[in-house]
Amino acid sequence: MTRPDRFYVTTPIYYVNDRPHIGHCYTTLLADAAARMNRLLGRETFFLTGTDEHAEKVVAAAAEHGLSPMDWASRNAEAFREAFAELDISNDDFIRTSEPRHTERLAGYIRRLQDSGDIALGDYEGWWDPSQEEYVTETAAREHNFQSPVTGRPLVKRTEKNYFFRLSAYADRLLAHIEAHPGFIRPEARRNEVVGRIRQGLQDVPVSRAVQEGDADWGVLMPGDPGHRVYVWIDALCNYLTAVDTPERRAFWPADAHLVGKDILWFHAVIWPCLLMALGEDLPGCVYAHSYWIREGRKMSKSLGNFLDMPTLRGYAGAFGVDAVRWFLLTQGPAGATDADFAHARFVEVYNADLANSVGNALNRVTNMIGRYCDGAVPDAGGSAGLADHDWPAIAAGAVERAAAKADAMDLPGALAEGLALVRRVDGYIHATEPFKLAKDPSKRGEVAAILHHAAEALRIAGLVLWPAMPGKMEALWRRLGWEAPIGRAPLSELARWGGLTPGARAVIGDPLFPRADPAAPPPAPAPG
Ligand code: MSP
Repeated sequence: MTRPDRFYVTTPIYYVNDRPHIGHCYTTLLADAAARMNRLLGRETFFLTGTDEHAEKVVAAAAEHGLSPMDWASRNAEAFREAFAELDISNDDFIRTSEPRHTERLAGYIRRLQDSGDIALGDYEGWWDPSQEEYVTETAAREHNFQSPVTGRPLVKRTEKNYFFRLSAYADRLLAHIEAHPGFIRPEARRNEVVGRIRQGLQDVPVSRAVQEGDADWGVLMPGDPGHRVYVWIDALCNYLTAVDTPERRAFWPADAHLVGKDILWFHAVIWPCLLMALGEDLPGCVYAHSYWIREGRKMSKSLGNFLDMPTLRGYAGAFGVDAVRWFLLTQGPAGATDADFAHARFVEVYNADLANSVGNALNRVTNMIGRYCDGAVPDAGGSAGLADHDWPAIAAGAVERAAAKADAMDLPGALAEGLALVRRVDGYIHATEPFKLAKDPSKRGEVAAILHHAAEALRIAGLVLWPAMPGKMEALWRRLGWEAPIGRAPLSELARWGGLTPGARAVIGDPLFPRADPAAPPPAPAPG
């Protein structure tokens, strides 16, 4: 599925009217783990995120704050940039739809679609809610007895001129593409939903809105028609192409993975590919839709005011480390077709089980014993002594291979689980071979050294598989084993080759990488930025 030498991954671009919350952070983290994994695999990687700024609501919110739409958007875009920096997100670019590089290229695409007849003026008829100044869908209008769902005032049938995209013309080609590329929409349950809906028929979609009186000059005008602006969703989707539509970056297209939440899958798996077909562009490799986070068993919503926001995530990062937050979100999150719960008790349980008692503990045991029995110098392999029936080079290579295959199939939690499983095998190995007992017999020193060599080497390699989730902590783990990873300078196949540690390098006994957490302690206090 993935190209051998390049990888282009995107997140949705986020509405600037929102403050960053766990939903935005999660999609972005998944993309970050995918990007890091692919860089590790030696692929030239481009990771894009950004902000979606041309919604009409931005104009109103800016006015409320006494700011121009641009100043308001800039201020809020900054909040996203900062949040992602705090979470150690390694995006290569951050695109804002208000930037000229985007608006100019977007206008070019629309012009191409007008020229080909894929976008044309037509009549839009719908139920207009005069009290809210918005259209209500046919279904919602019926459900509410043709009254405003918000105010209960009567809806009116309204017709206006609008530009339409000829979506209907692409239904068969899209279905054929989805059938020929089983990995195009993931996970599978979501693909089946989308296919079912496409089979019910695709209608042409409006892609513009009429310029109203007192227009705030916000949004891209329809080429050749100053009476209409490009609808915000069409504007936003095109960011994935505008960002790489330069001579230097063109080779990154098509995207290998568009990561999105389930609520916006239709736009990405149907409208966007059809727009691309109309433009004559290649289609993305995969549109991956994750499910939702809920919080302590309850849906998060604006009205409940219980969104898990940056101050809360920052509180956790302060108490447990940012990599622990990344680990929890990445491995316990709603990557598949079911929602996941952010519950404090579960956070502590996972932190203790996976990080304090597994990764941290294994490193501690190994470095402590190297300190005690090998004078703090990483021992060499010493023949086959101490191996028992453990073929470590093959065990480690198997874990790396499976992790890479899972990452290619966009199963990031599965890839990371391979790293944790390898750590746990090291623990099992120490438990089974008991070097701390053998060390009491001076004739067994060679065997002890060999066991510790294999344990340390396997931990180093496990660190590579875990690195996309916990870059800071894994780099610390390597330093403790006297190794510095040339990440980005050598592909994983080389980095993970058995025997990377330097015999004689100093192993460092330091503070625990992940100090154990007290399950009875209250959740960390939110930390304002
Ligand atoms: N601007 C559009 C996307 C345009 S992309 C061409 C948009 N923006 S958004 O700010 O609303 O971003 C929403 C992203 O956060 C989506 O991927 C959405 O699924 C995700 N989440 C919002 N709430 C969420 C949860 N409770 N849990 C997980 N992710 C959720 O949509």
